[in-house]
Amino acid sequence: MQRREWLGACAGAALLPAARAAMPQPEITLRFSHVVAEETPKGLAANRFKVLLEQRSSGRIGVQVFPNAQLYGDSDEMRALQLGAVDLVAPSLSKFGRIGLPEFELFDLPFLFDDLSAVRRITLGPLGQRLLQGLERQGLVGLGYFDNGFKQMSANRPLLEPKDFVGLRMRVQASQVIAAQMRALGARPVTLAFSETRQALASGVVDGTENPVSNFWTQGMHQVQSDVSLTNHGYLGYAVVTNQRLWQSLARTERGLINQALQEALGFANQIADTQNDKALAALRQTSSVHIHRPTPEQRQRLRQAVQPVQQQLASRLGQRYIKDLQAALNKG
Ligand code: LMR
Repeated sequence: MQRREWLGACAGAALLPAARAAMPQPEITLRFSHVVAEETPKGLAANRFKVLLEQRSSGRIGVQVFPNAQLYGDSDEMRALQLGAVDLVAPSLSKFGRIGLPEFELFDLPFLFDDLSAVRRITLGPLGQRLLQGLERQGLVGLGYFDNGFKQMSANRPLLEPKDFVGLRMRVQASQVIAAQMRALGARPVTLAFSETRQALASGVVDGTENPVSNFWTQGMHQVQSDVSLTNHGYLGYAVVTNQRLWQSLARTERGLINQALQEALGFANQIADTQNDKALAALRQTSSVHIHRPTPEQRQRLRQAVQPVQQQLASRLGQRYIKDLQAALNKG
């Protein structure tokens, strides 16, 4: 299947019929800005939220979704939210360190989660709630978490064990934990905005990157990278965030409607995230220029061993108490 056909099929599926019915002019319009394509778990969740909220509020609350960093990118979306230039963003959890909340980088620790139920033990438990409450320090309100899924490595060669990474410049998100992970593997981390990544790979500014396959495919990174290695070495998830001033200015019923539509959209995203990644992987498998590799259990174990020091190296940044609580919550499972 061509990328365009695949994208078209996904975009159509995201629209519910009632969304196309005429709606009155909204009294409130929420601007939701994000950096990924519409056919990703986040893009589909944002569109589902719009449809649900407009239906449930009988058109009184409208949502405008701006995908693909059309309005703001990684470096300015949080600031735009704080200033009230947008009303909702859903950055990856890796991007909260740059606004003074480094404890969110806990989620980036490599090989931390065995599966998504382990992620839930954090996001639905007291630690996850405490992390969201920390957003108040920045004038923000955290409304909930949702998944993309597990990250894979890409470059113009297989990346199956630490020696494969030596000397490579790897694009990373603005997370010191991810940067330390790349260093531990022998690579050089280069922090770049998501919207700049494909171009940087194409021009050779960086040699490789990591992301779940849905992000890789929908950005067309397979056109500029020849090898994807299914390492499943780390988790990528998001938090939906709004501005405290805006939130407090809304009536209780409006907050209730927004919350209800959002929680449903996030549940939907969690349900479809795996499928979106599986669909993108199936499409990638049909792309003759891309080779897909899967590390053996021994190779994966060597990757895991190489990145083991990262937690200790970043302990003071992440906070010893957060690490302790994280381990306790994971061990409960
Ligand atoms: C990235 O910047 O690599 C991704 O996390 C983008 C996203 O929001 O999924």
